[in-house]
Amino acid sequence: MNTLANALFILFAWILAGAPVAAQGFRPAFLLTGAHNRNSQDLSGQWRYSKDLYRTGLTDINGWVAKSRMQRYRDIDIAAQEARGGADFFEFDMDRGPLINVPGAWNAAEPALRYYDGLMWFQRKFKADPLQGKRAFLRFEAVNYRAYVYLNGKEIGRHEGGFTPFVLEVTDALRAGDNRLTVGVDSQHDAQSIPTAITDWDLYGGITRPVRLVITPATFIDDATLALQQSGRITGEVRLQGPQAAGQQVSVRIGALATAAAVTDGQGRAVFDIQAPAGLARWTPEQPSLYDVQFSTAADAVRDRIGFRTIAVEGNRILLNGKPIFLRGISLHEEEFGPNPSRNMTESASRALLHQIKHGLHGNYVRLSHYPHSEVTVRLADEMGLLVWSEIPVYWTVDWDNPAVLRKALAMQAETVYRDRNRASVILWSVGNETPVSVARTRFHGAMADNVRALDPTRLVSAALLVERRTIDGKDVIEIQDPLAGKLDVLAVNTYAGWYGSDTLDALPGLHWKVPGDRPLILSEFGADALAGYRNDGNKKFTEEYQAEYYRKTLAMADQIPNLRGMSPWILKDFRSPRREHPVFQNGWNRKGLLSESGVPKEAFGVLADYYGKR
Ligand code: GCU
Repeated sequence: MNTLANALFILFAWILAGAPVAAQGFRPAFLLTGAHNRNSQDLSGQWRYSKDLYRTGLTDINGWVAKSRMQRYRDIDIAAQEARGGADFFEFDMDRGPLINVPGAWNAAEPALRYYDGLMWFQRKFKADPLQGKRAFLRFEAVNYRAYVYLNGKEIGRHEGGFTPFVLEVTDALRAGDNRLTVGVDSQHDAQSIPTAITDWDLYGGITRPVRLVITPATFIDDATLALQQSGRITGEVRLQGPQAAGQQVSVRIGALATAAAVTDGQGRAVFDIQAPAGLARWTPEQPSLYDVQFSTAADAVRDRIGFRTIAVEGNRILLNGKPIFLRGISLHEEEFGPNPSRNMTESASRALLHQIKHGLHGNYVRLSHYPHSEVTVRLADEMGLLVWSEIPVYWTVDWDNPAVLRKALAMQAETVYRDRNRASVILWSVGNETPVSVARTRFHGAMADNVRALDPTRLVSAALLVERRTIDGKDVIEIQDPLAGKLDVLAVNTYAGWYGSDTLDALPGLHWKVPGDRPLILSEFGADALAGYRNDGNKKFTEEYQAEYYRKTLAMADQIPNLRGMSPWILKDFRSPRREHPVFQNGWNRKGLLSESGVPKEAFGVLADYYGKR
């Protein structure tokens, strides 16, 4: 493409996506905030599944609609039809297919599916009561990566993105009595997906988080938020949807401390702005105070447990409730302990991981990398007192010049912010991880930073940047040369000196850091591999001793960075990655964990725990 055409193409991209994007631009049609507390039918359990590697259930060989004998979503009893005989025949039968647990990734369910990467159909039947004027929704907490949803043979909707919730109305398709829910899940990623197919984590295709049938009144509370502002006031809003959304009285109760009332406008929106009550306990990692908050109208009510705190940057310090804080953290993938994780993050699985951070490492912070983690984990962070870095998987490279890809990223940010903005633990929205600097990439991230600030002006914006190595006046210098830094409240860098490359561990404390001193800096990643139990072999790489000494020397280096305000070393536990195939040390696992995949501590775990214990 010549330079003029290229410039016009990028200009078009920014007109389309870079225009001042009001938060509304990417607001999903339905949010159902607080759904987990509504009376809903959890559709977790055993579902039938049918492989469809050539996507015959979606499209025919010539790109037309699939042949009916392959349409997995048909509302039909195939065995009964076959018993009647006749010309029709089928090349699937969901009723007699194999069973699989939902939620969970299919890769862990069957050895034959370990590396299956493509379209898989899931189906389950469920009973529903007559709606009698109420409305019905399906809320999926996450489907990785594309979802095609059908109810009783009717297409209901689609979604792209493996880590954020989506809500589809099924009022018209739901039957009183038996219902047949079919979901096509396509795990394949490509050059236009977010992330692309190139990552350092496992495939994990499937309905990976819970699915619920939520029944609401005809006019219902779709969204309800409340937050403590720097001003000392508590502000928020409630959004109603339905025929009676306008002119409705809405009330909010904050525990036993305060109540407030407001009336919705013509768009069903009511706004609250009250002085924080005198006895309001601020949420902190040490005292993670949560209040039972109830939002109600004459017809509906939703509850949430909300912590009230403020987060800000002042010079190069991070202030929590006005006081400087150092983020004692670790990075975490969404993967439970055990030899065959299926990314089924139950409360107990998540609690086991966060317990190690809070009580094993004496941490107060967790980087939920590299994508929005389960709501279970974010709510537990609220409850246990762990501050959170949240990110969407704009990771390494995406198609920076493609406006459709940018819109996907902005929509993913919105789905994350709308889901988590009542979570006191979330303090940082990150817009990228280790993305190589280019004009298009920096513009892409700039639009993301603007978008997330428009969606949520109360939290801080960061990104995990790459560092440069240079020799200046004979000194070995690590520096940030990234134009994106100017868009960030908190700088963050991933640094692997002493693991990738030829640095000796003894050289690490002597490395000089040349970074902007006007803002806080976080070491968002550093780490080294070690196979648990591999010891006493001359401190070679992959031994526990090497990893432990790497941590000692890297922490000594970190202590010399004057505006260092936190760290989230890579990573709490070993995790699955098809990139890591050394037959002795890795076998498909990235071994940078401080714990093995089953939770056995390596020597370095104690090094970091001691360091944090003294901070
Ligand atoms: C990168 C990347 C991680 C990856 C890690 C590693 O920094 O952000 O996702 O797993 O390095 O190389 O282990």
